[in-house]
Amino acid sequence: MIGKSWYLLTSGTPEDYNTMTASWGAMGEIWGAPSFHCVVRTNRYTLQYLDRNELFSACFFDPGYKPALQFCGTHSGRDCDKAKQTGLRPVLLDGTTAFAQARRVLICRKRYTAMMQPEGFIEPETYERWYGTDPMHREFVGEVLAYYEKLH
Ligand SMILES: Cc1cc2nc3c(=O)[nH]c(=O)nc-3n(C[C@H](O)[C@H](O)[C@H](O)COP(=O)(O)O)c2cc1C
Repeated sequence: MIGKSWYLLTSGTPEDYNTMTASWGAMGEIWGAPSFHCVVRTNRYTLQYLDRNELFSACFFDPGYKPALQFCGTHSGRDCDKAKQTGLRPVLLDGTTAFAQARRVLICRKRYTAMMQPEGFIEPETYERWYGTDPMHREFVGEVLAYYEKLH
């Protein structure tokens, strides 16, 4: 679901939020709770919303929404209204923003954030390949508070 179908990472309220496409991330268990991990490069506008808000969502869509996700992953909320451009409808869900058309939604509470460290890379090629020219990622770990799935 994460790497192939991609997801929208969103934080804020429907009146003031930002969203971006992500295809990297992980789900698991840490600190006694189910967790969702994602990585956000420091130049993303969405990062400001993740910093300002306690909650975020990860929304997964049916394959027909790939063009909408492509748009949200190649344009910045600094320059356009992604919902208006794609037809995606932001909705308030458990205190954060999700999208009405999503098939599956995770609601997460931020528990940890930290920059990835260049010295942490075991293989210098990995660092060079992914951060040689692009800004570093900041990692977020959220506790999964709720999971919603549309059945039809
Ligand atoms: C398929 C796909 C996956 C992406 N995955 C990530 C990701 O995991 N982390 C990240 O920081 N950016 C990722 N991006 C890039 C952001 O979605 C893109 O830079 C976006 O325009 C940022 O929007 P913003 O400035 O409104 O936050 C991805 C883009 C695409 C198309």
